Amino acid sequence: MSDGKLVCVTGASGYIASWIVKFLLQRGYTVRATVRNPNDHKKVEHLLKLEGASERLQLFKADLLAENSFDSIVEGCHAVFHTASPFLLNVKDPQADLIDPAVNGTLNVLKSCVKSPSVKRVVLTSSVAAVAYNERPKSPEVVVDETWFSNPDYCRELELWYLLSKTLAEDAAWKFAKENNLDLVSVNPAMVVGPLLQAELNTSAAAILNLINGSFSLSIKLLLCCNEILSFVWIWVTSHDVSQTESNSIAFSISSDIEKGNKK
Ligand SMILES: NC(=O)c1ccc[n+]([C@@H]2O[C@H](COP(=O)([O-])OP(=O)(O)OC[C@H]3O[C@@H](n4cnc5c(N)ncnc54)[C@H](OP(=O)(O)O)[C@@H]3O)[C@@H](O)[C@H]2O)c1
Repeated sequence: MSDGKLVCVTGASGYIASWIVKFLLQRGYTVRATVRNPNDHKKVEHLLKLEGASERLQLFKADLLAENSFDSIVEGCHAVFHTASPFLLNVKDPQADLIDPAVNGTLNVLKSCVKSPSVKRVVLTSSVAAVAYNERPKSPEVVVDETWFSNPDYCRELELWYLLSKTLAEDAAWKFAKENNLDLVSVNPAMVVGPLLQAELNTSAAAILNLINGSFSLSIKLLLCCNEILSFVWIWVTSHDVSQTESNSIAFSISSDIEKGNKK
């Protein structure tokens, strides 16, 4: 049981994060949810309606690129779910639109976590994008495991900017976590599909809709990415499974704390 423990979810208005917030509230946690604009009714209304929200959901304004903006929010939190990161496939300026918020934003959040002794674990929503995109052969007998990383040069060469942003962000996160003795867990979902809690379509849900309504531009871009690497297979997971996995991962933190004898 959570005993009302305080946790933080970044980018809470997003597709996956909304489900994480829902499951955490269901399990009795008190959730500090960061959004870019808490006054944007369309982005936060669904969160405010979640069961337990009126008692245990607190909204905070935070931008990934505003240094120290997460300091006071994560202070006192038991765990932090870092989910905020742009998932966009068509951008004008890959560095500004994707790579900076992914990499600098992740480091910004992790730096705040290190400053707060209450934070026992950080769960990073990474992606298969950070794992599978390299020159290694992907035949049926090959096992893709935690030793795999995407190759940034390969992503640059193919102009797979979202994939590059996730690869660089996860790499930076692991380096920072090792240097600062931070307990980090990375979750690497493939394309996520399932019911939406939020009002607006996110990129993975839009890909499904585009297959149905015949507007293929986005889907083709995705297909080009995936076909190049994954031999004409699209990999999908459900939002339910991803969010359950993430919210479960702090239960491990609590039990490992007990083993270490430092449970708060
Ligand atoms: N959906 C998938 O298939 C999939 C698969 C694997 C991994 N992921 C990862 O899962 C995470 C969430 O993806 P999603 O599909 O749920 O996307 P989403 O619905 O587009 O959510 C992205 C979230 O990031 C926030 N964000 C973007 N830039 C920000 C900034 N500069 N400062 C603060 N917040 C910012 C957005 O805030 P606003 O609402 O203010 O824009 C939004 O809440 C991402 O890290 C993504 O890479 C997604």
